[in-house]
Amino acid sequence: MILTDELFEKFTKLIYKKTGIFYELNKKYYVAKRLEKRAEILNLDDLNDYYTMLKFSEDSSEFDQLINDLTVNETYFFRDFPQLRNFAEDVLPVFVRENRNRKKIKIWSAACSTGEEPYTLSIILLEMLDKPEEWEIEILATDINTDVLESAKIGVYENRSVRDVPPEYLEKYFTKRNDKYIINFNVRKPVSFKRLNLMDENEMNNINGCDFIFCRNCLIYFDDESRKSVLSSFYDSLKPGGFIFLGHSESVGRISSAFKGQRIGDSIVYSRPR
Ligand SMILES: C[S@@+](CC[C@H](N)C(=O)[O-])C[C@H]1O[C@@H](n2cnc3c(N)ncnc32)[C@H](O)[C@@H]1O
Repeated sequence: MILTDELFEKFTKLIYKKTGIFYELNKKYYVAKRLEKRAEILNLDDLNDYYTMLKFSEDSSEFDQLINDLTVNETYFFRDFPQLRNFAEDVLPVFVRENRNRKKIKIWSAACSTGEEPYTLSIILLEMLDKPEEWEIEILATDINTDVLESAKIGVYENRSVRDVPPEYLEKYFTKRNDKYIINFNVRKPVSFKRLNLMDENEMNNINGCDFIFCRNCLIYFDDESRKSVLSSFYDSLKPGGFIFLGHSESVGRISSAFKGQRIGDSIVYSRPR
């Protein structure tokens, strides 16, 4: 099947408009492979027909399938350990001091992929909060990709995913069956999964009252305009004083000037001003 540069641009504009994901021409091969796969499944032998179908179909299910194939879902437990250590040992204690009487915490893992990030955050809270059972903990985990969300809900992981889990946590928070690791109930309990597109303003408006937002290694696939729009929605979803963490190659300060940067521990962390 032939994907001309012109047709590539039409597809990528459509994808960008709906998802914020931005493909340059050097990603043509990657995108073409996935378009061809979908077109073959649908018995279409021309990518023009597939484009017309995507663009004019009233039902979004085929578009959702394509997005499932296109998104990069690489993740693992305790990814970016130094940042999580900063969250656990430096930032969380500040939050706990200020919320000692409230004992309520809401964390949003936006772009959670197969669940390793929200479950890691759940483990950190169980470890770091004094008497976690006295806290009302809510961890909302969202992603655009419905396949990864299904697998996140199952919560069974391969060796590869748990390679950075400290051995004592592996023992304490997972059950090993054959060569798989099943996440334990107490880690699962506060986590709920939901499909959400970061570029959908209506869906984004429904999420509020967050104390922490983690959106790591997702905005690297966006361009500046879509990054700005997502950060503006995150701002509204955070409580005044709430913190935002992006991936280590993404900088809040570079994307938006609305957040306050401050040094806590050994890192600059960003929060919504009070
Ligand atoms: C590389 S994974 C990051 C997983 C995890 N946060 C981490 O750092 O390990 C990127 C995730 O972003 C999701 N994603 C991409 N575009 C999205 C969008 N518009 N809305 C929601 N999720 C999106 C993908 O489906 C993918 O699961």
